[in-house]
Amino acid sequence: MKRIVVALLMAAMVISLAACGGNAGQNGNSSSDALDREQSPASSEELESVQPETDDTPEPVEDAATAEMESTDTAGSQEVSDTEDGKVLVAYFSATGTTKGVAEIIAGNMGADIYEIVPQEPYTDADLDWHDDSSRSTIEMNDRSCRPEINGAVEGMEQYDIVFIGYPIWWGEAPRIVSTFMESYSFDGKTLIPFCTSSSSGLGSSGKNLEKLTDGAQWMEGIRFGGGASEADVKAWIEGLDL
Ligand SMILES: Cc1cc2nc3c(=O)[nH]c(=O)nc-3n(C[C@H](O)[C@H](O)[C@H](O)COP(=O)(O)O)c2cc1C
Repeated sequence: MKRIVVALLMAAMVISLAACGGNAGQNGNSSSDALDREQSPASSEELESVQPETDDTPEPVEDAATAEMESTDTAGSQEVSDTEDGKVLVAYFSATGTTKGVAEIIAGNMGADIYEIVPQEPYTDADLDWHDDSSRSTIEMNDRSCRPEINGAVEGMEQYDIVFIGYPIWWGEAPRIVSTFMESYSFDGKTLIPFCTSSSSGLGSSGKNLEKLTDGAQWMEGIRFGGGASEADVKAWIEGLDL
């Protein structure tokens, strides 16, 4: 009888312990549910902010954010600057600012250094008068050997692998001061890319004639922009170069 009573008491204890364990388990689950509820809305808000509405697939926020950063990079200018070929310089001459504008767009989009070819003696309006046979620009352009002096120099030209060369078209050619620039440095092993602005003329033979002044450089086909060239036009050209 005593054994039966002891057995019954033990059975009662086991049942009661099992019930506590169950409660403990439920409490554990409840608190975990509470955590989930606290975290889930925040997480899904974050997800919504970085994911397209149509994408039902929950992703780790980090991955989605990274994806967004990558797509921004692709659309943005910095992506263009990641050239595989190395450091880029945009060198240009501009008498009245048009070529300067294009050069700045190229440099901005390529993350490139920029260098303005500044004449030792600045060009006045009278100098630029192409209607005047005796104006400085007319005289210079009539003399293939003319080499107007440049004020200043590119520091560390050897560090650049790609050099854009920009200039206005004068009488169908690059101004002679650009010839001075080409003959002032070694471009051996570099990639050179000419670009110009003009009222209506194309690049013509200007790029090819500059090419004759350099040794060992790889010249790419250049381009001419009009005065109204937009940033999108310039960007499209740069992207097409596939540097
Ligand atoms: C002396 C001189 C000669 C020019 N010759 C031409 C030419 O042959 N063809 C042309 O389309 N534009 C010609 N232009 C216009 C310039 O190429 C054009 O205005 C250019 O965009 C100016 O660039 P910049 O503002 O960077 O100096 C000439 C301009 C000057 C001052």
